[in-house]
Amino acid sequence: MPKINLKLFKKQAKKEIEKARDLKDLNEVFNKYLGKKGELTRILRSLEKLPKLRRAKIGSEVNKLKDFLKIRFDQRAEEIKEKIKKEAEAREWLDITLPGKRPLLGHLHPLTQVKRKVEEIFQSMGFSVVEGPEIETEWYNFDALNIPKDHPARDLWNTLWLKNKGLQPPRHPPSSRGGGPLAKLLLRTHTSPVQIRYMEKNQPPLRIIVPGRVFRHEATDASHEINFYHIEGLMLSKDISVANFKAVISEFFKRFFNREIAIRMRPSYFPFVEPGFEVDIICLICGGKGCSACGQSGWMEMMGAGMVHPAVFKNSGLVPTPHQYSGGGWQGFAFGMGFDRLAMMKYKINDIRLFYSGDLRFLQQF
Ligand code: FA5
Repeated sequence: MPKINLKLFKKQAKKEIEKARDLKDLNEVFNKYLGKKGELTRILRSLEKLPKLRRAKIGSEVNKLKDFLKIRFDQRAEEIKEKIKKEAEAREWLDITLPGKRPLLGHLHPLTQVKRKVEEIFQSMGFSVVEGPEIETEWYNFDALNIPKDHPARDLWNTLWLKNKGLQPPRHPPSSRGGGPLAKLLLRTHTSPVQIRYMEKNQPPLRIIVPGRVFRHEATDASHEINFYHIEGLMLSKDISVANFKAVISEFFKRFFNREIAIRMRPSYFPFVEPGFEVDIICLICGGKGCSACGQSGWMEMMGAGMVHPAVFKNSGLVPTPHQYSGGGWQGFAFGMGFDRLAMMKYKINDIRLFYSGDLRFLQQF
């Protein structure tokens, strides 16, 4: 066996272990000294040829060295792993004390804000909020409201008809369910059909409002859209009159705009009321001087209204007062207001189309 200086051997091995930068390097050093063909392994094997006493002495020293190196290898491996972990942590370091990015908060669309305010005011006056379908039948949108087929009054509502494909329309009129023709479907042109739907199922006295989306096939301008919102009102009892209507609606405008509002009522024709009228308020955008929003008239048309027509009672299965003012049956008023125009007046917006433009610069102002 060649002469070996174990001290030098140990020093050399320690130095190489220290030098190993990563686990791969370390593994190579391990194999060099302690692997199957490693130098220390070879020395241990060569001891076999030595005399017994000498073998025991040197063998014990070599084994001690082997144990020492094994511990050193393990320690170095731990050091390297720790170093790798620290480097990874340094790379992925997060400063959790940095202030976060505030998410952009949305808010309600101005029309939704107006809808909620309108509902709140009418509810405080005893009206319930009722809804109806946006896809309506010809019966509820027209016939039951006393607007028969081929009547010129239908032209007042430029209608978007549906092809009924894939839909299961009921048979109409409802009294002939099962026997009558299949209903033609359309996008409702007003929320007035909900009057009939509600009266079919509920007995007066009643007070309801019906907010909802309506559709018309017409050219748009500063005060007209093809898709807009209506709020229908209906109040029925034994002795409800136009005076009650005027009181309710004046109170509504006063509370909505937080001040007295000049209104005017003009006689008008709607087949489902008699007498009928339209209600204008002074244009709040120009203060009555005339502007593009009010068509230079100084007034903004806000709603159609009137005393519910006997034919509407009949079509809903209710008995009307024989004469509006003589008592004995049911009577009352109905109105239909465009609440886009209400929002225009409230926020002084001179073009209805802005509500539907999706322009955040406009919407962020509310
Ligand atoms: C009606 O639709 C009737 N159903 C109202 C009614 C109800 C009368 C109950 C009598 C009894 P009119 O088509 O006028 O009426 O519409 C009512 C209101 O909706 C108008 O006064 C106006 O404020 C608004 N409006 C009408 N057309 C448009 C449109 N294209 N864009 C925006 N608002 C509109």
